[in-house]
Amino acid sequence: MLILGIETSCDETSVALVEDGRHVLASHIASQIRIHQAWGGVVPELASRAHMKCLLPMIDKMLESQSLTLEAVDAIAVTQGPGLVGALLIGLETAKALAFATGKPLITVHHIAAHLYAPFLQSTDKACRLTMIAPSVVDEDTAKTPKGLTEPGNEALSYPYIGLAVSGGHTSLVLVKGAYDFELLAETVDDAAGEAFDKVSKLLGLGYPGGPIIDRYAGLENADSNRFDLPRPMLRRDQKNFSFSGLKTAVSCLVRDLGGADAVRSDPQLLADVCASFQSAVVDVLLGKAQRAMKETGVPVLAVCGGVACNAGLRAAAAQRFKRQHVYFPAPAFCTDNAAMVAGLAWHLRDVVPAECDLTLNAFASMPLPGVVRESA
Ligand code: KG4
Ligand code: ZN
Repeated sequence: MLILGIETSCDETSVALVEDGRHVLASHIASQIRIHQAWGGVVPELASRAHMKCLLPMIDKMLESQSLTLEAVDAIAVTQGPGLVGALLIGLETAKALAFATGKPLITVHHIAAHLYAPFLQSTDKACRLTMIAPSVVDEDTAKTPKGLTEPGNEALSYPYIGLAVSGGHTSLVLVKGAYDFELLAETVDDAAGEAFDKVSKLLGLGYPGGPIIDRYAGLENADSNRFDLPRPMLRRDQKNFSFSGLKTAVSCLVRDLGGADAVRSDPQLLADVCASFQSAVVDVLLGKAQRAMKETGVPVLAVCGGVACNAGLRAAAAQRFKRQHVYFPAPAFCTDNAAMVAGLAWHLRDVVPAECDLTLNAFASMPLPGVVRESA
């Protein structure tokens, strides 16, 4: 069964074709980084406009690259939330229109559920294409293609596992019992892990998005992650959730005491040490909590997903810490936002969607994980 996936929840327009939930025939991503870079973060209105310009041409181009037409597609899948509501609506309305016009089923999925599914995806290098959208150009190809598109060993992943979803908008620990069966164990009470990377990068004057930039400095051979003693928030046993805003404030105070961002940036050793000390604090918290969740649930399997799962320091520390457990990461191309995870997960929902496309479906900025009931405030 071939599913066309559409993902527009934030600043990546993505479309994909996935067969039987796992085999990615094509995954095309148009990143808006260059549009938002000038503003130091995602501007929702600009994101919606870029999605609108790119989405249909991207679907056409992808189908053409596979010598297929929409006729060959068995269902259309789209992210319904959570995310930027204007951005989500572009994807959702497009998917509704395509489903209505072709008579194919429409399957809506939860964005974080899709991230948690990403480690199952299998692809070849050729299947994935990354495009950077420049401010004035809609479709400017670059040579920057993500590498290592199928992680060796991921075929062994099965339910249940502990999912650590770490992205720009979310940080959650989840007991994943099935493709759409979750138990929320912990989440952030303030900033998400990726947001902390982005904010620390901004306060150091390093640019957006911060994760890959800090990762690069922290990974320099001479970087000393022990030079600055930064807090590891909420690591006590009685502290269930995550919190990263205090850590960000601690870095801000450190940078001020070191003479300000310009002074830090002008000293390569100092910059590498600040980045490495910050990154290691985030990694310690993420993996410390994941380790406790594995112990408390008795599930010795961890899958780390979302944009922050690209982080080289996090990957190395996880391999080091969990020698006796099993740790899985999606291939980098499936860590950050992509439509392959949407189409892959949708395959598991194919039997529970109504035959007729519901044209009244809406998008949601916030949305609990399926099966997770929140206590009202
Ligand atoms: O999953 P994603 O593409 O979008 C959301 O759903 O939020 O995640 C984007 C986030 C950004 O905050 C970005 O800084 C972070 O993932 N990120 C990284 C790395 N690559 C992307 N964080 C740490 N290290 C990286 N290498
Ligand atoms: Zn995401």
